[in-house]
Amino acid sequence: MKVEQLKDIDNAINKWFATLDDIIPKLIEEMVTSTKKNRFDLVTNVDKTIQQNFEQYLAEHFPEHQLFAEEKSNADVQPKEGHVWVMDPIDGTTNLVKQQDDYCIILGYFVDGEPMLSYIYDYPKGELYKAVKDNGAYVNSEPLTPPEKLNLEDAIISFNALVLNDATLHQLFDSAFSFRFIGSCGLDSLRVIKGQFGAHINTNPKPWDIAAQFLFAKELGLKMTTLNNEPLDFSTAGPFIISNTACHEHILEIMNSDGGYAKS
Ligand code: IPD
Ligand code: CA
Ligand code: CA
Repeated sequence: MKVEQLKDIDNAINKWFATLDDIIPKLIEEMVTSTKKNRFDLVTNVDKTIQQNFEQYLAEHFPEHQLFAEEKSNADVQPKEGHVWVMDPIDGTTNLVKQQDDYCIILGYFVDGEPMLSYIYDYPKGELYKAVKDNGAYVNSEPLTPPEKLNLEDAIISFNALVLNDATLHQLFDSAFSFRFIGSCGLDSLRVIKGQFGAHINTNPKPWDIAAQFLFAKELGLKMTTLNNEPLDFSTAGPFIISNTACHEHILEIMNSDGGYAKS
């Protein structure tokens, strides 16, 4: 794909993000929350409307592009064929409902399975993060620099403590400088991208939770792998880590020692 073509698409997507600043406050004012698989699995009118709005925008501007997104059936989507947008319309819905803070929109653009553009919009902070294939990463158009090396003993690391067994948890707590968990895969990953955290681990992400992170990791020299240190497939996702290069191996050693991290 030509650089100019990618720029045009990026411009159109930036315009779409700008329209959200009018839409989201009204949606939050009239927020309606419902549950999906269980009482902790929330979805709101904010999630649904943002996704519908983007689907409509794509249909108008790029009718041949497919949308692979959380709040829809993706039965007819071929994620590795042609132009595909992977979207989490709200990542951190629990935070949106309970705190009206710490949530984001995740968007990744793939052409024939290759990441071309990535966005994470931290709406409460007004920060739009972007990565462009072979062209670096930005926050509100300011370039991001690759993070400094962070060894595990000096790093804050992030994961959902509820899903790891006690032995793994204790080894991680003992080896890292400290632990924080925001509860939004996109925002926890952003802390790694900005060099604030050493790593973020999610043992069960879906494609939309990690769609944008691939290109940020590539452009900024971070590691993004399965928990077995293998390449990740964006279309199926599964257990993942995004990490500073200096602590990636050490964390995976801990995750896979003594029978692994899973709860029995
Ligand atoms: C969730 C958040 C959470 C992560 C879960 C995700 P949602 O996304 O990113 O931090 O631990 O795996 O499902 O449901 O708020 O879009
Ligand atoms: Ca999510
Ligand atoms: Ca979501």
